[in-house]
Amino acid sequence: MEKIVDDIFNVGVNDTKIDLFEGQYKVKDGMSYNSYLIIDEKIAILDTVDKNFFEEWFNNLTTILKDNKPTYLIVSHMEFDHAANIIKLVEKYNDITIVGNVKTFTMIKQFFNVEITNKLVVKENDTLSLGKHTLTFIFAPFVHWPEVMFTYDSYANILFSADAFGRFNTYENEANYLDEARRYYIGIVGKYGNQVQSVLKKASNLNIKIIAPLHGNVIKDNLAYYINKYDVWSKYEAEEEGVLIAYCSVYGNTKDAVNLLVKSLNNKGYRNVFAYDLARSDISEVISLAFKYNKLVLASITYNNSIFPFMNTFIEGLIERNYQNRIVGFIENGSWAPMATKVMKDKMQVLKNITFIDSNVKILSAVNEDTINQIEKLADSLLD
Ligand code: FEO
Repeated sequence: MEKIVDDIFNVGVNDTKIDLFEGQYKVKDGMSYNSYLIIDEKIAILDTVDKNFFEEWFNNLTTILKDNKPTYLIVSHMEFDHAANIIKLVEKYNDITIVGNVKTFTMIKQFFNVEITNKLVVKENDTLSLGKHTLTFIFAPFVHWPEVMFTYDSYANILFSADAFGRFNTYENEANYLDEARRYYIGIVGKYGNQVQSVLKKASNLNIKIIAPLHGNVIKDNLAYYINKYDVWSKYEAEEEGVLIAYCSVYGNTKDAVNLLVKSLNNKGYRNVFAYDLARSDISEVISLAFKYNKLVLASITYNNSIFPFMNTFIEGLIERNYQNRIVGFIENGSWAPMATKVMKDKMQVLKNITFIDSNVKILSAVNEDTINQIEKLADSLLD
């Protein structure tokens, strides 16, 4: 639990047992499910937590509430890492009013098969007074579900931002802060850059001093830095000049070419080059790094007349998240019918504003003098 300001608390929980967040993202340092409590003449709870944590969360709530009863439960997002305990809370506080929009209540009916009778259906920019605190509801559709809404507290100048500005890791664990915020954003919200841009524009009119997301730390300092990161990510711009090499190699020959490319770039004075073996890496991390840098090289063996499965997963992950505005080169390997570059390039044709490098590398089984020359040309093209 954390006191955010005098009368606002995070009563959320840390999940250190979780293996895969949202069924796919490895979170070795766990995850937090934040839930906020505003104490005023009327008391509001913002969101519940994952179903496995009802007891801990409710204990946090009642430690502060004591015998007081909450008037409202504001539902920012219906995904079950936040919404799982809505009905259990109603069972504890029969008079509580559930606050959501039309889509929220449609989903409550779908998930719980119950009709909420004690409800307040809000529209965009509606306000709700708790006493000193006045809350304004700002719709944030597809950040990252259609019913999502932010809540702005104009008394405390806090933006309760639902999933936006969240990150992997438990609460108050600052390890790899930006990398885990990026991996979270690209993985979960990356597809919806336009929608993030839209809600950032709405938020730019607000006097925000604190951002309180549903995952990860409450942001009290350097707000402009984090808002700028969201702006860059949602515009699909690169954060840094750099080459990310994602490769698949079975017997090490394609890896040899990758190592030679790294060496060649280093020898030319270019240090921001990073190579990842997709079979042995967390693909969500490599995808997020592809969005960090402005250049990408894909290196794959030819496999079953196509590309290696991990490369297929990687490219599909980029496509799902609208990867765009980047420079891309290829390295392929094949002993009798190399076609990995054609397959990789064909798949990426659906992406917007990708500049494909012409001087790609073709390895016939193993690196030789000819491939070394090709690697030099690819390195030069990447530095052009
Ligand atoms: Fe944290 Fe989209 O749920």
